[in-house]
Amino acid sequence: MSQPHDETTGAETATTEQAAALADGLPAAPAGETSTEVSFHRVCRSGQVPEGYVRRFYVDELECAIARLNGKAYATSNYCTHLDCLLSSGKLVDDGVLCSCHGSVFDLESGEPVYPPATEPIAVYPVREEEGEVFVGISEADVVHGGPKRRKLRRD
Ligand code: FES
Repeated sequence: MSQPHDETTGAETATTEQAAALADGLPAAPAGETSTEVSFHRVCRSGQVPEGYVRRFYVDELECAIARLNGKAYATSNYCTHLDCLLSSGKLVDDGVLCSCHGSVFDLESGEPVYPPATEPIAVYPVREEEGEVFVGISEADVVHGGPKRRKLRRD
């Protein structure tokens, strides 16, 4: 099955149904402000994410944790939903990615927490590997909603 192709950027785009499915669980954006259309971006070489490792990469402006478990590459938000620690500082365990701060574990397929204290899922993004390269599918809405919940204090 081939993906629709954006001639101007060279990026492949997902169908409306795929984008809608990906957007499930995201806070609703005001109509017309952010797009949920998914496009795939090259992130790294496959060899940069060896088996059993989780690393931080940026997909466009979105900070992601890219992991490889049992041979499959996964992309998630890099922010734990408990207190925003970086998941790329954690490690992989049999059940998913372990946050190094307080021990939450998240399923890499669904993003659901499988071990507390986190109770909210992390965002997950579709991944494709082609010819030794890793591509991650994100939308404009993912970039807008993909940062930490906690905001830095302003120093005026
Ligand atoms: S910040 Fe991840 S478990 Fe607390």
